[in-house]
Amino acid sequence: MALINENFLKLKAGYLFPEIGRRVRAYKQQNPDKKVISLGIGDVTQPLAPAVVEAMKAASDEMGKIETFHGYDDGGTGYEFLRKAIQHGDFQSRGVEIGLDEIFVSDGAKCDTGNLQEIFGIDNVIAVTDPVYPVYVDTNVMAGRTGDADEKGRYGKIVYMPCTAENNFTPVLPKEKVDIVYLCFPNNPTGTVATKEDLKKWVDFARETKAIILFDAAYEAFITDASIPHSIYEIEGAKEVAIEFRSYSKTAGFTGVRCAYTVVPKELIGYTKDGKAVDVNPIWNRRQSTKFNGVSYITQRAAAAIYTPQGQKQIKDIIAIYMNNAKTICKELAALGYTVYGGVNAPYIWMKTPKGVSSWEFFDKLLNGVQLVGTPGAGFGASGEGYFRLTAFGKPEDVKEALARFAKLKV
Ligand code: MLT
Repeated sequence: MALINENFLKLKAGYLFPEIGRRVRAYKQQNPDKKVISLGIGDVTQPLAPAVVEAMKAASDEMGKIETFHGYDDGGTGYEFLRKAIQHGDFQSRGVEIGLDEIFVSDGAKCDTGNLQEIFGIDNVIAVTDPVYPVYVDTNVMAGRTGDADEKGRYGKIVYMPCTAENNFTPVLPKEKVDIVYLCFPNNPTGTVATKEDLKKWVDFARETKAIILFDAAYEAFITDASIPHSIYEIEGAKEVAIEFRSYSKTAGFTGVRCAYTVVPKELIGYTKDGKAVDVNPIWNRRQSTKFNGVSYITQRAAAAIYTPQGQKQIKDIIAIYMNNAKTICKELAALGYTVYGGVNAPYIWMKTPKGVSSWEFFDKLLNGVQLVGTPGAGFGASGEGYFRLTAFGKPEDVKEALARFAKLKV
């Protein structure tokens, strides 16, 4: 008799975005003549930068010749040409030294943020912001690190740090003992950023309590304010306590290409139950080399092209299109009387739903009333109730049309 992992039975309904997709498909089936505009899942719409496409073509040609063919990448952690480009382009350029053997190239930050928890003990108490990117929570549920969900969808044994308009969407240090803290800045879904002082507070907390921070910086390329750190390693001491996730999905339109990386510093220490210090970097390396065989050569060449001067200019131009969308959405929704947050240093707009309308009710009203799709705040956690997320990743003409439809919405 094959027993299943019963932790999966604790998960609430479907994963958020497929669940939204299911509802939208059902609506379209019943209303085939209606054009639905999606500002729901944060999926990009602009084509790849020309420098990236050129690099992919050239890499494909190399793969077709015996002299330049490539098999497995060395150890599956990324070709040196890409890790060197990352080391220089993302870190040295901001005054941060990261070793090549601290960089692990992968096929996505979703996979990395989901997989990383498995190198940590099952008894760790995890802390997450609420609302939160659901992957952090669901993967810990699957692993058995949580209790059951209550009626609001909060799982036992997880420490939730509510982030609402009342506290400027800024998590407060937990009073309880926690071992692993997930932070995401610029934040998905609220669009909030963390200042150097905010991050220093977390780094100091982790150093004092021997906790580890899992820092998701997937949206750092959208920061417009020069004083906001792009990496947690800009904070002194962070390499002792933090793992950082980066992604090319939104930065360079790689949602359909798949490439990302994770930094696990050599200074980072975890502990055995009897208190012995253990280096985390070789454990992640061991995990990856056992379960992962790396990202394709063609994709890694494409990623490296982002760091060339042309690549940088081209991706910045694309990001500017999205950030212009964000600005327009914030401005026009505010003019319609909505309360909006985010959208300045992040590609997400976090808006309040009209008084007395829950986030899923608002979802239904938008879909059924004006054929618009967003993401209900409650899908990101109990404290997301009463909020709604829009992405800035739509095509500008769709964003324009979406805003015209918002103006017609009756709530
Ligand atoms: C989102 O919409 O939150 C993201 O697209 C999800 C993801 O990156 O996995």
